[in-house]
Order: sequence, then C-alpha cells, then structure tokens
Amino acid sequence: MPTLAQINAAGADEFVALLAGTYEHSPWIARAAAARRPFASLAQLKHALVRAVREAPREAQLGLIRAHPELAGKAMVSQSLTAESTNEQTASGLTACSAEEFARLQQLNADYNAKFGWPFILAVRGPRGAGLTRDQIIATFERRLHSRPDLEFAECLRHIDRIAELRLNDKFGVEPALGNQVWDWCEQLAVHSDPGYLERGELTVTYLTEAHQACARQIEAWMRECGFDEARVDAVGNVVGVYHGADPSSKRLLTGSHFDTVRNGGKYDGRLGIFVPMACVQQLARAGRRLPFGLEVVGFAEEEGQRYPATFLGSGALVGGFDPAWMTQLDADGIALADAMRAAGHPATLDAIAALRRDPARYLGFVEVHIEQGPVLNEIDLPLGIVTSINGSLRYLGEVQGVASHAGTTPMDRRRDAATAVAELALYVEKRAGRVDGNSGGSCVGTVGQLEVPNGSINVVPGRCRFSLDLRSTTNPVRDALAADVRAELAAICERRGLNFTLTEIMRASAAPSAPAWQQRWERAVESLALPLHRMPSGAGHDAMKLHEAMPQAMLFVRGLNGGISHNPLESSTSDDIDLSVRAFAALLDDLAREQA
Ligand code: HGY
Ligand code: MN
Ligand code: MN
Repeated sequence: MPTLAQINAAGADEFVALLAGTYEHSPWIARAAAARRPFASLAQLKHALVRAVREAPREAQLGLIRAHPELAGKAMVSQSLTAESTNEQTASGLTACSAEEFARLQQLNADYNAKFGWPFILAVRGPRGAGLTRDQIIATFERRLHSRPDLEFAECLRHIDRIAELRLNDKFGVEPALGNQVWDWCEQLAVHSDPGYLERGELTVTYLTEAHQACARQIEAWMRECGFDEARVDAVGNVVGVYHGADPSSKRLLTGSHFDTVRNGGKYDGRLGIFVPMACVQQLARAGRRLPFGLEVVGFAEEEGQRYPATFLGSGALVGGFDPAWMTQLDADGIALADAMRAAGHPATLDAIAALRRDPARYLGFVEVHIEQGPVLNEIDLPLGIVTSINGSLRYLGEVQGVASHAGTTPMDRRRDAATAVAELALYVEKRAGRVDGNSGGSCVGTVGQLEVPNGSINVVPGRCRFSLDLRSTTNPVRDALAADVRAELAAICERRGLNFTLTEIMRASAAPSAPAWQQRWERAVESLALPLHRMPSGAGHDAMKLHEAMPQAMLFVRGLNGGISHNPLESSTSDDIDLSVRAFAALLDDLAREQA
C-alpha cells in the first residue's frame, strides 16, 4: 500500500508503476501528473490526475474513454477485463444479469456507440462507492443515451475520474468514513416523504407534515447519538443541537441549514449543511474534545416556501424576522399555518416564536455548508467552492384576469385570453433577465415557475391565469431594476390586451455578501486540504442570507453530480466530496479554536 511520501519520492517510472491501473490502460495520465509533485494530500494527487486528463488533447481524452470496456459487454463475457474492471462490474452485479437485462445492456451499448462513437462510461460503484444496482445502471444508461455529445463526452471523463478516485482509495487503503456517515444520514432521512410523493418514490417534505415531523425527530435523535449536550425541536419546528465549549457560557458558532425540500426534490439540498457539522461534533465528542466556543447546529424547519408562501421561516425566527401575517397563510387544503403548528404540538403564539430570536452578541458568526445546486464546480472539476455572495431575490404571485369564452366561436382578434398574456410575460422575463446590467455588470435570473389556468377547459379561452415570478441578481439595485421592468411589462401587456391583473410580492431577500473574515476562514480550511480555491456567488438562496441580517456569515459549496442539478431527484454528491467538506469544516473549527484560545 503506497504512502504519499513514497509517491512523492519515487522516480517518474516508479510513480507511474505505483499508480498502475488507476486509469484504464492509460499510464500517460500518471506520467503527466508526476511533474506536479509533491502532493500534500490524496485529494491533491487526485486533482492533479484530473487536470492531466483535462489538459490533454481531445484525441488523448477520446483514447482514454475508448480504453474502457463496455458494461456487461464482450470483454466481460470473454473475461478479458482488467482486474479493476472485473471487480467493479462483478460487485455491481453486471455478471449476474438476467437474460432481459443482458439483452437490454447489449442494445444500449450498440445504440450508445452508434450515437457517440465511444463506450458508455459509468462509475458503477456509484457516489457512495458501495455499488449501483443493475436497475440504477440501466436507468442511467437510458437517460444519458439522450444527452448531447459534448456534454456526454465531459460526463464520461468525470465518471472516469470517479472510477480512478475509488481505485486510488483502494490503493491507498483509505475510506471517506465521515463522508459516508453524512451520505448515509441523507439517504436514511429521505425515507420520510409527504403522501402522494412517498408512493411514487419521490422526496417531498413540506412544513410540519407528518413526514416533516418524523424528520425532525430523527435529526434530534441523531444529534443525541452524536454526543450533543442539548437537542430539541423549537417552537417553529427547527431542530437545535448544542455542543458546549469548554466553558458552557462561551460564545457559540452557529451553523446549519434546512431539512424541508421542494416537491420531488433532492436528498442533499439543505440536509448536507445539517449533517456535515453533526459529523464534526460526533468526532469531537468521541475524542472528548471541547473547543473554546460552543457549536450550535440548527436544522431549519422551513426554507423553501412550498406548503405556505412564507420562506426562510425557520432561520427568520432566529433573527426576529418571523412575519405575524404568516400565521394565517393557508395551504392548498385550506389549513392555516398556525393550525399546522398547533397540530404539530407547537404553541403557535407570537411570544413563543419571538423567544427564538438569538442575541447576536452570544455568537461568533454563522457558517453554512450547502451543495452548489449548479454546474460550476462540476465543470471545473473541483469538490469545494467558496461562496462570495448570495444573490438577492424577489418572489411574486400573480393572476391575469381576462374573459373565458368559447374556443370555437370567439374570433382571434376579440379574445381576452389570460394565458397568452402570461406566456408573453414569461418570454419577456426570459429575455430581460438574460441581459447583463450595463452599469454594474450584475447578472440576473428570472423564472416563471408556476403558470396555471384554474379550472381550465380544452375548449374555453382562458379567462384567468395564475403565475409566479422568481427574480434574482447579485446585487439589490440590479434585482430591483429587473423587477421594475417586469412589473411595467406586465402592466403594458394587460393594457394592450384589455386585461386586468394582480401581483403580490411574497418574498424579498437582500443579496448577502460573505463576511470577509469568515470567507477567509473557509479559504484557509480548503487550502488545508491542499485543494485549489474557487470563489463564486450563489445563485440559490440560503438560510445564511437570513442570518446575515444579524451576524457575519459565509458559506462553503460542495460539488453536485449530474451537472450539479438540484431541486430534482438526480441531485447527488459523492461521499468523497462530502468527506472533504467535513474535513474543511473541522479545519475551520480548529482555525477558529486557535484564534479563540
Ligand atoms: O430557491 C432557492 O434559491 C432555495 O433553494 N430555496
Ligand atoms: Mn432548495
Ligand atoms: Mn437549500
């Protein structure tokens, strides 16, 4: 089993020999990476190998892809796979396919090769390293068969990197145990899902449903098992864990994220940011170690605004931002938020909620780990990113009112069609948000995520059309200019078409720049892993933007798989990347402890 010292001290040929089998039939990659030594960590070695692949000519990259065997292909049947591929294809059950599965895979191999001109590459040991099932393999194969060639070429290289990463873990005898623990917590918590979604195997956990309450109880139980001194569910449903410092009265570092999800969402959005610090507390408690500050980890109960329009309700309560008007908001079944709170055993009084407000003087600051929810880290092949600012956002719910009329007899020039008006607005939002702000260069995004004709009929011109607006930008002035233009366009469209409209702002979140001192703490933490720094804004909103109102904050991003997709069941991350985020969090704690000592 080689060590990093050996790897660094070896001659070039020996270095290549020590890494034999990491990249299938392609020693040129290790040879290219040798020059980047010395490596201070296995993560740095892995990154150097990835860079060697990315910087190679496309022909060499294509040769690397083509050096790989098909899944359950001819090489497997003739037993001429490399030892590593044999292990991987056997462990994932590809040598035990049914006749139908085997035939399906042969067809997929043929179709895929015909379309792309190279073999389908999939790290069959999967994001947890424990192996994908044949069903998961076939489903991924079928999904990626419809991908675009350029995107698929890049995806194949990323899977080759993942195969190499797992082979290096084996070679060096390392296991991402902390990342595995967090990955497993995310997986286990995902068994709880709201009715109507659970039956379809979809993850939806909305505010204070039975599934939501089961999640809260589960997180609280895991916090106790990790060794937290306190763990409780508070008056708005947040799960609060406290691990005291050496002096229980010392200031605390606040951290956490949300455990509610969007409809049919992913398992890591929010939850990762609860479980990463929990894994750190688990390590501290096991070592009987106390820091010179306390650690308060919060599983925020409501961030997504799915069951009720209220968003950031959980983190808002901690900064005195709970809006009393939220208590009477109704969900789709007409249940008021206050009644949902009472049904979940909460007092549902403004006093009880006001009591949750944290005194900023008792805290050092707020940090949050979150999956990136975007393509950047995936495309630059980095496991971690440093957040510089969180985009400011505005959300609206609107309705256009026209006149319902006969689809067959109403002439096209005499219609008062509410749906085509909203469609026109959606196209305007798409165009306007794509414009970069001439003055500040600030970028925007705009989304009409909901668009529906209530009680519509196929043969009736829509008399009403309800819609939502989600408008975001890197700065508040650019965000506000976008919103003003969209509102003006809505008015102009309705004026021109003889329609009425209502538009209600339901959320306004300011852009939240990271506190420099805390951003630098994350930077030092990532540098301690011998990984390059990548600084980036967050297009998604996070609980950190609420805590930003009361204390300094900064975030760390973790790379997502499948192009970084999120708010989608394909949302995923590897336990190796998660392990690096746990190590970064622990490094930040040590850095802070030295400072506070
Ligand atoms: O919408 C957001 O940005 C976050 O996921 N709630
Ligand atoms: Mn989200
Ligand atoms: Mn989130």
